[in-house]
Amino acid sequence: MPSHTDLTKPTVLVIDDEAGPRDALKVILRPFFNVQSAESACAALDILSRHPVDLITLDQKLPDRHGMDLLQEIRQAHADTEVIIVTGYGSLKSAMDGIRYGAAGYLLKPFNVTELITLINQTLGKKRRLDFIRKFFESSPDLWGTEQESAHAWQALQSGYAAAGADKQGPAPVLGTDLGLLPLLSDILEATDRNLLNHSSRVSFYATLIGNRLNLGSEEQKSLTMGAFLHDIGKSGIGPHHFPEGQRKASSDSTDIRKDHPDKGAQLVRHAGLSAEISQIILCHHERWDGHGYPHGLQGEGIPLLARIVALAQTFDHLTADPMASSPLSIDAALDRISSQAHTYFDPRLTNLFIQVINECKHSLPPMAVAATIAESRKS
Ligand SMILES: [Fe+2]
Repeated sequence: MPSHTDLTKPTVLVIDDEAGPRDALKVILRPFFNVQSAESACAALDILSRHPVDLITLDQKLPDRHGMDLLQEIRQAHADTEVIIVTGYGSLKSAMDGIRYGAAGYLLKPFNVTELITLINQTLGKKRRLDFIRKFFESSPDLWGTEQESAHAWQALQSGYAAAGADKQGPAPVLGTDLGLLPLLSDILEATDRNLLNHSSRVSFYATLIGNRLNLGSEEQKSLTMGAFLHDIGKSGIGPHHFPEGQRKASSDSTDIRKDHPDKGAQLVRHAGLSAEISQIILCHHERWDGHGYPHGLQGEGIPLLARIVALAQTFDHLTADPMASSPLSIDAALDRISSQAHTYFDPRLTNLFIQVINECKHSLPPMAVAATIAESRKS
């Protein structure tokens, strides 16, 4: 730790190969933060190995490595350090790459100073909350204990989270309501893996599109949106250190954990006080139409309708936008794959509706869903 470090201030590392922008950032940030700087990936990694750093502003163009490669390395080795991409070489692709590899934010040069400071402060506020959640999950096995232990641990999680600064980000959560719990639940997903939060948001979007076409009642529609968003929250018990960003994959040693997550997630939201319908979606989202799914091997219409919708939505997202897939599929290819799995994995009637709805909404799907489609059309 450098001798002039003010322990009351967060530490920001500015990584930029050009002296001008690097010095400008140092001058702007110094009144608020301890500031260090590096002109190359190698110098940055050296600083990170010697001093704790809360946040990095990262230029994409470096002399010894591409910024995106460095971002991946930092997120794997220093998962608690947040990264904001600052670049003059912005494009939709680089923004998506940054998000895919775990950047907390993205700022184009020339940047507005107020925007920069606001983004850094927001990111540091989020880091405080995520750090609290990560520590809590690592040290509180009671969350998965008996009914009484879990309920007690959940209360401790809520009050610790409020103290970690959640209340400064907006109106106080209305405890006891689904919407009031959303910031905490969303942060639990993000603390586990930022990609898990992005995946959850997209799955909720697709499931809601289908729910609208089925004319579900408003309570059922709300449960579907929430249940889809929280379908993988049981992976939170696994902890971020097991699946650092960039390394998440379904290996054989992760199979038991994988098969556990519907049960764990259903248990967690039950203790959070969410509806039985939401808990049921989470529990059943890996059941298969032919009865070969898990955890209970339910079959056909024995699987709750809302869980059958989420099964389709999450598969479509894995096929089109899984950050770990070497080549995500185009929308058409993903829909073909899903169509071929009607009657085995999926409810055939819902599969037809899903394909119809996605085809109709092709032009308003999230950027990550259409990235492979755009890349494919450019090749042809
Ligand atoms: Fe899942």
